[in-house]
Amino acid sequence: MGSRSSPAALLLALWLGQLGAWPAGRPKVNPRIIAAPQGAKEYVFPRWERFPVFFHQENTSSIYVGGEGRLYYYDFATRENYTEEFPVKNEGQCVTSGNLEDSRNYLTLVEQYGDGLLVCGTGACAPTCWNVTQRKESPPWDGRGIAPFTPDSNTLVVVDGQDIYSTIKKSQQNGKIPRFRRVRGGGELYTSDTVMQNPQFVKATTLRHEEPHQDKIYYFFREDNPDKSPEAPRNISRVAQLCKEDKGGTSSLSASKWTTFLKATLICVDPVTKGNFNWLQDVFIVPAGDWRRSKVYGLFTNTWGSSAVCVYSFGDIDSVFRTSRLKGYSGPTPEVKPGQCVPSGQHTPSETFKIADSHPEVEERVEPLGPGRSPLFHNKHRYQKIGVHEVAAAGGQRYNVLYLATDKGSIHKVVELPDGVQNIVEIQVFPSKDPIHSMILDHARAVLYVGSSSRVLELPMDMCGAYRNNCHSCVLARDPYCGWANGSRPSHLSLPSENGKPFPVSCPLPNINGTLNISVTPFSRYYLNCSIESHYATYNWYHEDELVKSCNTSRPQPDCFHFIPSV
Ligand SMILES: *[C@@H]1O[C@H](CO)[C@@H](O)[C@H](O)[C@H]1NC(C)=O
Ligand SMILES: *[C@@H]1O[C@H](CO)[C@@H](O)[C@H](O)[C@H]1NC(C)=O
Ligand SMILES: *[C@@H]1O[C@H](CO)[C@@H](O)[C@H](O)[C@H]1NC(C)=O
Ligand SMILES: *[C@@H]1O[C@H](CO)[C@@H](O)[C@H](O)[C@H]1NC(C)=O
Ligand SMILES: *[C@@H]1O[C@H](CO)[C@@H](O)[C@H](O)[C@H]1NC(C)=O
Ligand SMILES: *[C@@H]1O[C@H](CO)[C@@H](O)[C@H](O)[C@H]1NC(C)=O
Ligand SMILES: *[C@@H]1O[C@H](CO)[C@@H](O)[C@H](O)[C@H]1NC(C)=O
Ligand SMILES: *[C@@H]1O[C@H](CO)[C@@H](O)[C@H](O)[C@H]1NC(C)=O
Ligand SMILES: *[C@@H]1O[C@H](CO)[C@@H](O)[C@H](O)[C@H]1NC(C)=O
Repeated sequence: MGSRSSPAALLLALWLGQLGAWPAGRPKVNPRIIAAPQGAKEYVFPRWERFPVFFHQENTSSIYVGGEGRLYYYDFATRENYTEEFPVKNEGQCVTSGNLEDSRNYLTLVEQYGDGLLVCGTGACAPTCWNVTQRKESPPWDGRGIAPFTPDSNTLVVVDGQDIYSTIKKSQQNGKIPRFRRVRGGGELYTSDTVMQNPQFVKATTLRHEEPHQDKIYYFFREDNPDKSPEAPRNISRVAQLCKEDKGGTSSLSASKWTTFLKATLICVDPVTKGNFNWLQDVFIVPAGDWRRSKVYGLFTNTWGSSAVCVYSFGDIDSVFRTSRLKGYSGPTPEVKPGQCVPSGQHTPSETFKIADSHPEVEERVEPLGPGRSPLFHNKHRYQKIGVHEVAAAGGQRYNVLYLATDKGSIHKVVELPDGVQNIVEIQVFPSKDPIHSMILDHARAVLYVGSSSRVLELPMDMCGAYRNNCHSCVLARDPYCGWANGSRPSHLSLPSENGKPFPVSCPLPNINGTLNISVTPFSRYYLNCSIESHYATYNWYHEDELVKSCNTSRPQPDCFHFIPSV
């Protein structure tokens, strides 16, 4: 239109920003936020559920959701779905509490058990379980100890083959002190009432050792800090151990008690600020061929609403329990040491049990892995849940990708790299910021299941679509899945090199240092716009080799503009 147009050649150069090194660890900026990516599938429950529980069998495409008096099934691949009813039998047992919520059968457990499913619920104050095989339910059986009387958040149930462990009390009136029990398989056992103070249970797992009689149960919990000094935190995070083959004590008083209980403190402190993350929020276990190298990813928060992730090895946990002195005990060490597993069929000697029972805490504390024994990272988000997935990248290296559920219905995807961690993307799973009740990882299929009170989303872990199918933005975001996935997406990337150097980019990069010809009218105003796809790059506008505008992580913004008032 104009009389004369002069072509202005502009140069856009991309530079990788400075990358933080372990242990600085703190992701530099908030990651870019995306909606649930392409390939996400959604299942909306027939009705809203107040206390939903979720079960997914690895390497299948389906999910079970336990609701109030109902079990929902949905297959994301075929859309097959059904609802099974689990009504209250015989009006339940609630003593006129006046609380209508109590008089329902909230399903609290859906788990694999034998060849079928174990489904348990509150049964209106009469905990009840059903075995479900091929959609056929067995007659109901007494589920006390496996399901609570009313919905209760402080419960853990671990099903390990025929064994069931639980923290659920067996009687509605008695038993105010929470215990960790073996309720099925072996004989029934429970923890002494003096070994934990007001515990809040977080996670439990079993761990196979080389010899079966050494197999352990570990559970993670918070409890009141026995140190009541004003500067000490009120709560303390712990790991406890038990031997799977524990047969209980030899006296009538100890016959039903675990005799191999020991507990240790989990330390998660930022060495720079000395900030203490004492509130264990969630735990994710990453198994390894050698149990000693199996890892515990502990998600901690502090009073100021910040979160930290500390990683421990079971080798270190085991060595603390085996070698540490007992807190407050200075007597002689018995032949069978407290916490030691005895050969199959034998009982722990009563002398050993007495010492352990009165001194259940070991003096040494469990410290995280990594240089400086520091957190893997910490930041100002209040995370609720953690999941970890190992990705094999194109170069054969393996990377751990952390999925962290926020309290705003979103998930942060954080990649652990040799030079620290990077918070690469925030996925707004539930646009309404619905709380995330559950996050289940399917490692075989590389998908995530994220559940709320109204729905479950199936999300592919490989979210390269989020990077606009653009090779360099995917690489700059340092998302290892982008080089891992073959198919339509770029698959010929080489992933992080040695020495923590940035990704050597081997995909075609038409825009890097490319020139762009734009025709403009002289003396007109002009906006130059370049959308920022990676917060780990610096975007610069140059005019005749002179830097005219720089956009980088120090000033996060969605686009990098350069305004020319008069061309
Ligand atoms: C459940 O299955 C029926 C067919 O049996 C189908 O019409 C319906 O769309 C499915 N529901 C969902 C949420 O996919
Ligand atoms: C439920 O299944 C378990 C494990 O397979 C079995 O031991 C139990 O007898 C079953 N109970 C009923 C009522 O079918
Ligand atoms: C400590 O635990 C109690 C309940 O056990 C809780 O109310 C309190 O907020 C916790 N304090 C901190 C600092 O986390
Ligand atoms: C997942 O299931 C498929 C068959 O459905 C099988 O080929 C594959 O080996 C399984 N993967 C794992 C990790 O179990
Ligand atoms: C993916 O890429 C690797 C390396 O280029 C190749 O060996 C493999 O066959 C590819 N897999 C598929 C399913 O295309
Ligand atoms: C891009 O341009 C900058 C500045 O002119 C130069 O230093 C850099 O080496 C160039 N990068 C590539 C990949 O050509
Ligand atoms: C831009 O215009 C200049 C001058 O006309 C020309 O030499 C150059 O090749 C053009 N670049 C592109 C990418 O079209
Ligand atoms: C800048 O470009 C991006 C993508 O090309 C676009 O989404 C954004 O709206 C643009 N911003 C302005 C102010 O034009
Ligand atoms: C970021 O940009 C500012 C100017 O906007 C500049 O002063 C600073 O050096 C840049 N930082 C990096 C790491 O490039």
